Amino acid sequence: MNRTANRSEGRPPAFSYREVRKGFLRRRPIGTTLSCDEIPLERLAERYGTPLYVYSASAIRERMDSFEHAFRKVPHTICYSVKANSNLGILQLLAGIGCGFDVVSGGELERVLRVDRRAAKRVVFSGVGKTSEEMQAALKAGVMLFNVESESELWRLAECAARTREKARIALRVNPDVPANTHPYISTGLQQHKFGIPLSKARKLYAQASGTKYLRIAGVSVHIGSQITDVQPFALTMERVAELVRVLQDDGHRIQYVDAGGGLGIDYQDPSPQEFARPAAEYAAALLRPLRGLKVHLLLEPGRSIVGPAGALLTRVLYRKTNGPKQFLVVDAAMNDLVRPSLYDAYHEIVPARLDVNSARHETVDVVGPICESGDFFARGRELPVVNEGELLAILDAGAYGMVLASNYNTRPRPAEVLVDGKSVKVIRRRETMDDLLRLETRLS
Ligand code: LLP
Repeated sequence: MNRTANRSEGRPPAFSYREVRKGFLRRRPIGTTLSCDEIPLERLAERYGTPLYVYSASAIRERMDSFEHAFRKVPHTICYSVKANSNLGILQLLAGIGCGFDVVSGGELERVLRVDRRAAKRVVFSGVGKTSEEMQAALKAGVMLFNVESESELWRLAECAARTREKARIALRVNPDVPANTHPYISTGLQQHKFGIPLSKARKLYAQASGTKYLRIAGVSVHIGSQITDVQPFALTMERVAELVRVLQDDGHRIQYVDAGGGLGIDYQDPSPQEFARPAAEYAAALLRPLRGLKVHLLLEPGRSIVGPAGALLTRVLYRKTNGPKQFLVVDAAMNDLVRPSLYDAYHEIVPARLDVNSARHETVDVVGPICESGDFFARGRELPVVNEGELLAILDAGAYGMVLASNYNTRPRPAEVLVDGKSVKVIRRRETMDDLLRLETRLS
């Protein structure tokens, strides 16, 4: 029991175990229950059903505060990367504390605008395949910066800007050719990747862009990948970016912004959110050292590091099952709800929502979903406290790239999402119904 309990006990304020007492004056301890802020997860599961995404507002705020504190000495804007978790409730929470946004589609831009139209001036528009329609919508909204990823895109943007008679503030997203020790699917800063413009080509393109009436050169941007836990690649990247900024400034361009992208990883193995101040400070030091002496406004696009540890996916054990030497827990969530283990072989800590005397016994299990694929798993060969059918598990660190990647595979309605803030709970997305799923389809007759 202790391994799981202790690790998770060190997780305030998002998810922590609290003692449950019963009897006269609640004198009799009967176990401990996992809570999100002040609310026991078991209560949320009973009320809203499972699978259920639960987010902690205080954890999100706290992580934003750590970022702000780490970068307090330089002019900066945090542009939360909407792709990590794009729920309107989460965006509203972040907009309310003055956050900017990084969007990669017209859809993500629309979400931000619906939450706060005035936030457009704190939006950076990234992405390797922006359409003319998306560019026009962003021009109309008045976004702060377009991060342009190719020469063709640059001229397309120039056309759109001329058509709408809106000046587009641009940064070229450069590809620094720096390896980021992370999963190959989410590594983006090497020449072999589709992202960005080679550093060697950037100077000429800036020169060409500067002669265009509706483009205004405003910055340089970069993003080398996601779930990067070693800050060295960030430092090396910023050295290359800083060198380019100096060259461009010497060429007479006004480089107002450096957009350092996102990518700071979290510790899925041993998560402890209260420790975030230290990694945030190390990350800030790695980025800021190479930029020293440059008069620029720093933009940051964190996603996972803000919302990842603030969310958990609650799921109930449907069946216990033994196949030969293997013990399975079949749960009611599946790869359609949280695809990270299946897609990236990602580790997520899984803990029981209630620990009692039985939790002292451990067993090695595969935690699997009901979907008809062997790839539908959350953990394999994992040592967990023994849990019975009907009990509740929490899959931790599911706040980023969880619900946004969910699908309706196997005609499974997607989970509900709730945001907990201290003692209050708000449903920020209701559970899908079969009618929601079938609404867009037509029978032949
Ligand atoms: N900026 C750009 C241009 C990006 O492409 C990304 C993420 C971010 C910022 C935010 O990165 P973060 O701070 O969240 O690492 N689905 C994958 C992650 C994909 C990341 C894509 N780009 C996963 O579940 O691990």
